[in-house]
Amino acid sequence: MSLLPPGKFGLPFVGETFEFLLDPQFVEKRYRKHGAVFKSRILGKPAVFMVGAEAVEFLLSTGFENFTWRDGYPETFQKLLGRSLFVQEGEEHRRNRRLIMPAFHGAALARYFDTMDKLINKYLVKWEQQYEFKWFDEFKQLTFEIASQIFLGTANSDETKQLSDLFATLTAGFFAFPKLPGSKFHQSMKARQALLAHLDQVIESRREHPTDDALSLLIQAEDENGDRLSHTEIRDQALLLLFAGHETTTTMLTWFALELAQHPDVLEKARSEQSTFEHPITLDQLSKMPYLDQIWNEVERLHPPVPGGFRGVIKPFEFNGYRIPQGWMAQYSIYFTHRLPELYPNPDVFDVDRWKDTKQKPFSLIGFGGGSRICIGLAFAKLEMKLIAAHLLRNYTWELLPNQSLQPVFIPTIRPKDGLKVRFQRQQEGF
Ligand code: HEM
Repeated sequence: MSLLPPGKFGLPFVGETFEFLLDPQFVEKRYRKHGAVFKSRILGKPAVFMVGAEAVEFLLSTGFENFTWRDGYPETFQKLLGRSLFVQEGEEHRRNRRLIMPAFHGAALARYFDTMDKLINKYLVKWEQQYEFKWFDEFKQLTFEIASQIFLGTANSDETKQLSDLFATLTAGFFAFPKLPGSKFHQSMKARQALLAHLDQVIESRREHPTDDALSLLIQAEDENGDRLSHTEIRDQALLLLFAGHETTTTMLTWFALELAQHPDVLEKARSEQSTFEHPITLDQLSKMPYLDQIWNEVERLHPPVPGGFRGVIKPFEFNGYRIPQGWMAQYSIYFTHRLPELYPNPDVFDVDRWKDTKQKPFSLIGFGGGSRICIGLAFAKLEMKLIAAHLLRNYTWELLPNQSLQPVFIPTIRPKDGLKVRFQRQQEGF
């Protein structure tokens, strides 16, 4: 009879929740002591942590059937995100993913390119005029405007601002305690209602007059059996996509800008790669920038926006000789798997060359998750981030302002503490 994994449950009920939320080295310390699989108790449940390519592969791929997404997250997620991909499982999840996927891949991406490019150019002009600003906040506005315009066809800045404020309120409720009087959760639910009311109107209007936005594609989406998404499904999925589709991209862009400001040699090589292309930037060009791809891999490795993913254990399983009972929570670690010296020598060093000609071990770079629940917005996010990067490299310079903390904060997404204050200028000899 095999044993439970090593580790400790901590105090009754609260377990090690505070250490988990407050100590960025929580996983690292326990990994060093116990290895790839260890137990704890967080958020009121016994939990198993799984670190490293093999453990992550088990959770995301080979042992996939032992887990659900829904049971791994607090109830607040289900209430705030409704019946969307994040909380769907099995056949329902597969069906919805099949119907949504075309709106974020292939021909659809090509159609979004011009809108993305136009919005990026608008912000580049704004940043040039502003000269000094906090880049995290600016990237957030830009990525939200891109998402709301491409996903929903949002027409003007006032409407975008209104939606963005509602999203900020909604997001504040994910880790709130719904049962506490005055909890932020109640305002979040109100924001959800307001967002749904807005989506109702837009869906009606797109049914009458379809456009090129992702929402129109979701409305028209049909699988091989002629099955379509219902009105409620479209509404809930659209809300999730907007939620999932901007803050993550914002944090990776922020770290990209920070790392390049600190590594002038890498910046120079990346600029030189851009100089081999004609102007303007095209979709085809973006697929031919191997050095920029190396940079993005390294930014994803060192600064994954999502530190890990949670699951509920619905079927007991064994891993590495340990037994994990049903009803536990499981977490796969993205952040720390990316910093294992066995996978990445000198893991804390930003080293773009480690991606040159190396064959990657499966489930060792997992910033977008993996397996059948891999991020549905991966291709969209990579397109957006590469396009912004190519513009910055071709025509702009930026330097970090003094008196700011660049230390990472971890919640809700990993970002430099003061939001990355920069001075931004157009390059004299840009191209
Ligand atoms: C840099 C940008 C992004 C990063 C790092 C990222 C990261 C992730 C990760 C790690 C997961 C898996 C979570 C898990 O296994 O528990 C995920 C899932 C997901 N992401 Fe992203 N994401 C990004 C951008 C986007 C965008 C732009 C969209 C929307 C278009 C999006 C929509 C989703 C959805 C809907 C899922 C759930 C998929 C499912 O369960 O089938 N993400 N993302």
